[in-house]
Amino acid sequence: TDARASSFNGQHIAADETFSSSAEYRDYDGPVMLREPAVDGREADEDSNGEVGLQRGEIISTSRDFEEEEELWQFPPKVSGLGLDRRDLATDDKWVPRHPDLIRIKGFHPFNGEPPLSTLMHFGFLTPTSLHFVRNHGAVPQAGWESWTIEITGLMTKPKKFTMRDLLCFPSRRLPVTLMCSGNRSKELSKGGKSLGLKWGPGAVSTSVWGGARLCDVLQHCGVLMPKKRGVQYFVCCSGADKLAPSSSSYGTSIPLEVAMDESRDVLLAYEQNGDLLTPDHGFPVRLIVPGFTGGRSVKWLNKIEISAEQSDSYYHLHDNRMLPSQVQDLDTAISEGWMSRPEFVINEMNVNSVICTPAHSQTLTIDPSNEDAAYSITGYAYSGTGKKIGRVEVSLDGGKTWKFCSVGYPAQPTKHGMYWSWCFWETRVDVMELVESSEIVVRAWDSAMNTQPENSSWNLLGNMNNCWYRVKIHRDD
Ligand code: MTE
Repeated sequence: TDARASSFNGQHIAADETFSSSAEYRDYDGPVMLREPAVDGREADEDSNGEVGLQRGEIISTSRDFEEEEELWQFPPKVSGLGLDRRDLATDDKWVPRHPDLIRIKGFHPFNGEPPLSTLMHFGFLTPTSLHFVRNHGAVPQAGWESWTIEITGLMTKPKKFTMRDLLCFPSRRLPVTLMCSGNRSKELSKGGKSLGLKWGPGAVSTSVWGGARLCDVLQHCGVLMPKKRGVQYFVCCSGADKLAPSSSSYGTSIPLEVAMDESRDVLLAYEQNGDLLTPDHGFPVRLIVPGFTGGRSVKWLNKIEISAEQSDSYYHLHDNRMLPSQVQDLDTAISEGWMSRPEFVINEMNVNSVICTPAHSQTLTIDPSNEDAAYSITGYAYSGTGKKIGRVEVSLDGGKTWKFCSVGYPAQPTKHGMYWSWCFWETRVDVMELVESSEIVVRAWDSAMNTQPENSSWNLLGNMNNCWYRVKIHRDD
């Protein structure tokens, strides 16, 4: 162990010394990421072992760098402290590097963790990769860059198996996207009755610059077929390489084909996060990124895509990332009465949400009553799915009778299609005496369609989509 190890009660093993023993891992940090894609097909033909490479003349773009919006963001700093963790040593994840500051949600395995709110806010717009929240349903698959393939089949004229090198031949796009788990803030829901699922705080949300090929380009290359009849929908069914209970199935889910093919939706086959290759926890070597949708649709360790006239029949598509009506009170009823397979309860777009970050729960504020002019800054984040802009954030100090209009800052420009794929930050300064006299701070946000947050949570069996007013109680210690 080294100095970093000792900072974690001796439980933390330094990254560098341990990783070098794993051949798979060397593959992970080996390839140089931002190499130029092939210009005219020759490179792709020669480099892909003659197996599944693109044929000469099939390359669909000329060489170019990542297509970026005109942005001022910079990649977040790489945060030290990443390493193997004793708590994972008895699991199949013993080789996976993790940051000790991620708060582990329920048990040690599979790994699920969220950063503390103060950490998220400290880094601001872009979350360092090692502190990005993690949602895993099982052990992280060991993967090699060179050996990885994605099989693309189904309703198309040219089904194909793609290597990672093949993917690099497509034009690449890089853009900041906020991922939020459907279960973000689910811990607050338990007050309305027992719900299933993990109990997340308000940190199951993070923002990275994701880079990769656009799914629409790859599917177009495969000659994807679009439904001809009005009212008929096709689906992109994706699965990952993780082997999960029950019956060693993999994590699978689907998104509507029209979303995948809509250029303005920016759905990516991402192989890059914050300028580096993906890390094991976030889907190395390739994952789907579906901006504006729940994080659950962004399949990690992606190895199969099938275009189908049916939604995914994966256990995880049917049993996860749904919001069932509140009358469905237990899992047996949900399954036996067929609630789980009804498409209208699938969560895709996230709803509007906002959270207070300062003051934090359990934070002690020292207030000088003799300074009547003193002001305190209440701050937090807000986000809405489907690319909608947050147009208004309001804070109340009197339980919702009156509201203060907050200033809202978007670090990222909208995309060229006008989409807001990442979160924003808000602030309002209040008189400290007002704060002292209040018993609770409450926030609500509104998006550009005037959707806002409800006062109370809507209990639901799987504990998803909680976006009720976020509250921080004030206790006076006179
Ligand atoms: N993909 C696979 N293969 N296996 C998984 O367990 N979890 C999903 C999604 N993709 C999952 C997956 C869920 S529920 C979420 S919220 C996001 O990954 C989280 O992505 P992250 O761990 O990179 O934050």
